[in-house]
Amino acid sequence: MITGEIRVDHVSKSYPLYFKLRAGFKSFLFHLPSAVESMRHARFEALHDVSFAVEPGQAVGIIGHNGAGKSTMLSLLAGVMLPSEGSISTSGRIAPILELGAGFHPDLSGAENIILNAVILGLTRREAEEQYDAIVEFSGLGEFIGQPIRTYSSGMLVRLGFSVAVHTKPNILLVDEVLAVGDADFQKKSRERILDLRRHSVSMVFVSHSMEAVRAVCDTAIWIEHGRVQATGTAATVAAQYESHA
Ligand SMILES: Nc1ncnc2c1ncn2[C@@H]1O[C@H](COP(=O)(O)OP(=O)(O)O)[C@@H](O)[C@H]1O
Ligand SMILES: [Mg+2]
Repeated sequence: MITGEIRVDHVSKSYPLYFKLRAGFKSFLFHLPSAVESMRHARFEALHDVSFAVEPGQAVGIIGHNGAGKSTMLSLLAGVMLPSEGSISTSGRIAPILELGAGFHPDLSGAENIILNAVILGLTRREAEEQYDAIVEFSGLGEFIGQPIRTYSSGMLVRLGFSVAVHTKPNILLVDEVLAVGDADFQKKSRERILDLRRHSVSMVFVSHSMEAVRAVCDTAIWIEHGRVQATGTAATVAAQYESHA
């Protein structure tokens, strides 16, 4: 089986900052032309000069507090956004399990979204249809599968997203904190599925706040804080550093 790999080379990502009225709104109006000009150039750097590699069959954990830049990194790896600087190269089929409902169409039913999403992730329509029953079964959504997904709870969206992603025969799985959502049963089931994919040499980038999960799933880990790499090393070492710091 061909496994996927990822190279992240000196990647930075900045977002435009639209509303940063440091001195208040009155002052903003008073200095309008210069204020508008500075707003136009204001950027927030969510990631700064991050480099790492995911070797074929390896799992890398990304650890860090809220706002550290973890989801930004996964979106870059998924190709949802482009880096502002640096480069990312990937090989193999990537299945992203990103934040809630990413990639789903709210007005389509769960069933329609399964086919749509599976095809977007690289299956043929036929392959998607072949996997359909297994996806519905894994999701545990039962009769709700016929409902438009705008009626789904966040837990249901996570179950659907996870179920589709793990059934698309990925070479690389990107997992963003989904295990923290959903009920205990689904968390356990999805954790087992992730470990099973690891045993089948699926490469992974795994974002989690659970150091226990990071230790169980990952070979190495990166700790990011305020967009900068704070530490890298074996998952056990970095998880311990993070815990003793937090
Ligand atoms: N689309 C966006 N526009 C502007 N700022 C953003 C955007 N997405 C994320 N950010 C900011 O970038 C930083 C990193 O966010 P994120 O990658 O979601 O962090 P994490 O997943 O580690 O909690 C945060 O300060 C967040 O507010
Ligand atoms: Mg996040």
